[in-house]
Amino acid sequence: MELRPMAPRCGVEIAGVSLSTCSDADVAAIKTAIYEHGVAVFRDQAFAPEDHIAFAKRWGGIDLNNYFPLNPRWPEIALVSKAPDQTTNIGGAWHTDHSYDQIPAMGSILVARVLPPAGGDTLFAHMGAAYDDLPDDVKSEIEGLSAFHTADHVYKADGLYAQTDQGKALRGQDLRTGAVHPVVIRHPVTGRRLLYVNGGFTIHFVGQTREESLPLLTKLLESAVGDDNQCRVQWQPGTVAIWDNRTSWHNALNDYHGHAREMHRITLSGEALAA
Ligand code: SIN
Repeated sequence: MELRPMAPRCGVEIAGVSLSTCSDADVAAIKTAIYEHGVAVFRDQAFAPEDHIAFAKRWGGIDLNNYFPLNPRWPEIALVSKAPDQTTNIGGAWHTDHSYDQIPAMGSILVARVLPPAGGDTLFAHMGAAYDDLPDDVKSEIEGLSAFHTADHVYKADGLYAQTDQGKALRGQDLRTGAVHPVVIRHPVTGRRLLYVNGGFTIHFVGQTREESLPLLTKLLESAVGDDNQCRVQWQPGTVAIWDNRTSWHNALNDYHGHAREMHRITLSGEALAA
């Protein structure tokens, strides 16, 4: 197995391994690499839906996404799709998956199934690097702070997606979510300090209103996506990306109007987060 960093501080490409047949030692090495780099990319994988599910189960549990359409034949797999006549994509802003759950998903395994002729890349940003880069006064300001996360404004019947051409395909408009997490968490395995707020689902700091929270929250969200914290995944047939939702954010670019893109996503169960 060969590890090639994709950028100095985010992402790693892993070659010389087949995800559908690899050993337990390979899985352990892959996990370590993802915890460190935030996201790992694997090329030219023969990875049928059955392989996708079997590999996910080697990590532990699968968290079913409550909103995305599910693959009718393999309901463990959520569909992240955009048709040629749709203009809105799924996940087209910086976020981390499922932070609105009190026990958020550990990570996601995304497989490219239908790709546009050009575009449709996914950006990733490393939240350990984002935390390290904060000035000392901001680090002091967020020490001990927690934040409230929810998905209600995104998925409810009059939420953000309902007003777009993705609205009809999504589920779960009646669900209500809410979770509180430390603004700076320690990675459950590596112990690294990570910034854990995100633009998709973090609403306010605990003990502050949204308006009171916005200046600091905006500063954190903007500073976290500096170019030198990022890497870019250019999808090809057979590409699989696996990311750690605690260590990274991602953002699916929506620059391929008129073409279809379909990705298969399995979300991996995680654990409670602590400062
Ligand atoms: C997502 O999981 O947010 C979607 C990522 C992508 O489609 O590239």
